[in-house]
Amino acid sequence: MTTANESATIHPDLASVLISEGHIQARVKELGRKLKHIYGDDEFTVVAVMNGAILFTADLMREIDNPTRLDCIRVSSYGSSTESRGAPKLVHSLTLDVTGRHVLLVDDILDTGKTLSLIAGMIRGLRPASLHVCVLLDKKSRRQVPFEADLVGFQIPDQFVVGYGLDFAERYRNLPYIGVLKPSLYTPTK
Ligand code: IMP
Ligand code: MG
Repeated sequence: MTTANESATIHPDLASVLISEGHIQARVKELGRKLKHIYGDDEFTVVAVMNGAILFTADLMREIDNPTRLDCIRVSSYGSSTESRGAPKLVHSLTLDVTGRHVLLVDDILDTGKTLSLIAGMIRGLRPASLHVCVLLDKKSRRQVPFEADLVGFQIPDQFVVGYGLDFAERYRNLPYIGVLKPSLYTPTK
């Protein structure tokens, strides 16, 4: 629900709110309906990319009444930078067997595409019955490797954002909205 004073309570480290809590929740409900079109009543296995996708995945799963299984995967992180450093590496792999299963891969944001192409390639190698990718945010202009998600919450411009799972140096994940971090709080490395 959008609160009347949402903009008044903006975190002091943010330059602006890009997507309000109300807009996120409405879009998550729509994505839940789109998943119903994809899967019908079939069971599927949700694979969330830790840590960023945790809040989005938790809300999205509550919009689904299908039988689901949940697994998490982790890749090497950004550290305290706003730019990805080289190739991502898998540091925690799946614990569930996804061979012959319908898999929904969920991440917070599709940026250069390196992370999701690595994970999607690994999952495809396990021969799932199907693989769909759902991201909350997509920064299309930043893509370095060709990769498109099947479901996208919001297309956003090339700005570093935090909140609703997304972090800068592991902070701000708990904000219920997505905001643009004040550039004075980091030194852009571009
Ligand atoms: P990619 O491999 O460049 O597509 O990066 C994807 C990962 O980078 C995401 O899962 C995020 O963890 C991180 N990331 C990319 N852009 C942002 C941002 O604007 N804010 C916070 N994290 C970001
Ligand atoms: Mg992430």
